[in-house]
Amino acid sequence: MQKAKTLEPRNPNKSTGIFNGKSSGILNWNDIAYPHWHKMYKRLLGNYWQADEINMSNDIKQFASLSQQEQDAYLKIIGLLATLDAPQTRTALLLSLYATDPSVQSIMAVIAQQEAVHNESYSYVLSSIVSLDQQNKAFEFGRMDETLLKRNKNIAKYYNDFVENPTTENILKTLTYTTLLEGLFFYSGFAYFYNLARYNKMVGTSTMISYINRDELEHGRFISELFRATLSENPELNNDELIEWVYEQFKESVELEIEWSEYVLADIEGIELEEMHGYIKYRANKMLRLIGLEEIYPEYVENPMKWIRAYADNIDGTKTDFFEQKSRQYVKVNAIDNGFDDL
Ligand SMILES: [Fe+2]
Ligand SMILES: [Fe+2]
Repeated sequence: MQKAKTLEPRNPNKSTGIFNGKSSGILNWNDIAYPHWHKMYKRLLGNYWQADEINMSNDIKQFASLSQQEQDAYLKIIGLLATLDAPQTRTALLLSLYATDPSVQSIMAVIAQQEAVHNESYSYVLSSIVSLDQQNKAFEFGRMDETLLKRNKNIAKYYNDFVENPTTENILKTLTYTTLLEGLFFYSGFAYFYNLARYNKMVGTSTMISYINRDELEHGRFISELFRATLSENPELNNDELIEWVYEQFKESVELEIEWSEYVLADIEGIELEEMHGYIKYRANKMLRLIGLEEIYPEYVENPMKWIRAYADNIDGTKTDFFEQKSRQYVKVNAIDNGFDDL
């Protein structure tokens, strides 16, 4: 597949296809192939935030009082989250280079910007609470830790396959892994921080996590739409082999996620591993439904981790939930006060 042309006045403004289509490169939001994507773009933009708006002063004091297991898990999970958001920044940009629909290019540009913010937020929280040496160690974790490398192996493979060989099939595979990333891979990490928050620990960090969570929910929604639309525009790829492949990736990802959660969340007060495994399967079911496929864990159609519903399931800006309560305490602070300049 060729990269989309930037400007081609002989083509229509309204794109004839998401990938491999024709479009002039001129974006008129009132004349796009999938009109409701304008709403998605607006929702994404409405979520704008920046890391240094979050007040870390209580977290700075509290970190030392966490148990050793909690401190280790904190650093490992930040290390994990950084391995997901960094490739996502670039993958969002790459998808936009091949997309021949300018509305998709713009939406992916906003998603890429948000992934860049997520990345910076991990440096921001770590620079607030631990030494430079420990900060660097947390970020090295993604290249060094065997369990984490095993867990991320498939995502690296399929993301890099798309770079080397940008076919429509490889784009669908990348979109499958993006759906898994946005809707599943983050959630054991999110659960860890929400669990701390329910014991009133590290509330600044979990506020930041809830902002990231809100973004990822929107990204997951858009990416699953993009997957379904791309599949229906390319019916020859909508075959048993590809669909079977998608189910296999979901099953394997769930197993790896369970293994990871046992590795990083064992001995964390308040987290029941059995419940966590059910939650991972529930997330997988949810993302399968979003991409138009069937649930594979019928016993986990409902969220079995009851306490987390108040944190992770209700972030839609309409309910009085964790996110809204926290946003009332959300005080802009000056970046100079929190040690970020020492980075
Ligand atoms: Fe992200
Ligand atoms: Fe994302």
